[in-house]
Amino acid sequence: MLAGLTLTDRLGTTTVPISTSALELWEEWYGNLSPESVANLLSQYMRQPLAIRVWLHMSSSSFRLFLKDEKTPVGSGKRRLLRSPGGETYAYHHIFVLEESYQGKGMVARLLKNLLDMYQPLGITKVRLTAGLSQGGQIWPAYGFRPEGLSQWRQVGDQVRARLRRLRVPAQREREIRDYLDGDDPREIWALRDLKAPELAQEFPHGLGKSLLNGTRWQGILDLGDTLAVIRLKDAFRRKL
Ligand SMILES: CC(C)(COP(=O)(O)OP(=O)(O)OC[C@H]1O[C@@H](n2cnc3c(N)ncnc32)[C@H](O)[C@@H]1OP(=O)(O)O)[C@@H](O)C(=O)NCCC(=O)NCCS
Repeated sequence: MLAGLTLTDRLGTTTVPISTSALELWEEWYGNLSPESVANLLSQYMRQPLAIRVWLHMSSSSFRLFLKDEKTPVGSGKRRLLRSPGGETYAYHHIFVLEESYQGKGMVARLLKNLLDMYQPLGITKVRLTAGLSQGGQIWPAYGFRPEGLSQWRQVGDQVRARLRRLRVPAQREREIRDYLDGDDPREIWALRDLKAPELAQEFPHGLGKSLLNGTRWQGILDLGDTLAVIRLKDAFRRKL
């Protein structure tokens, strides 16, 4: 459900239809997709009205998504399209925050599905982000994101080990977790995120792995060229959508 679309360029703010002066910049970033089709793709799975504000620049284009309940915003986040030094377009997802009463309802899955459906015709196969705030560290690995590179994975390892030292986790579980962390493949974060430890359900009602990752901060990537990441993503969509 679309509540509104606003386009902003250095010449000022306009609502669709887009002015000819901004059209070139629009095509630079959104190719053959019209503003209306971007708006439709971004709002297709949302149950809440969605307002979109797009900024167009030579070096990037950002868009901010505002989820609304009637007229009140209940969530918002900024996303950006950029070019890597090699000329490949990728997306960067800045922080997304949902009002508390809207959390835990799979909103983020619907939003991500919309975004990826929009990226697909643009040939975007890499989505980067900084996992952080309270939930980001445990949410994004559910959708196939992983720390980008070994040093980011080691950074997650340091944060989780520090947490393990403070928590009372049985030795066998601790060994299991350390095994994941010692691995050299950042995709080990997926197994860690999925670690439930049902015997500790009282202390960690969301599952041990999610609790350990909650609050961690790392630079992450969803690489749609990685079959395993895509399988994980599709599995999350099957469960959440
Ligand atoms: C991150 C956020 C946008 C996620 O949106 P959402 O639509 O609520 O997410 P979902 O409903 O898909 O998932 C909630 C998941 O978090 C888990 N979870 C919730 N609270 C948790 C907690 N305290 N500890 C561990 N896991 C928790 C749930 O078990 C669920 O896991 P599942 O995917 O295995 O089912 C939202 O929670 C939010 O706004 N959080 C505060 C801001 C923030 O941390 N943003 C991230 C910035 S990168």
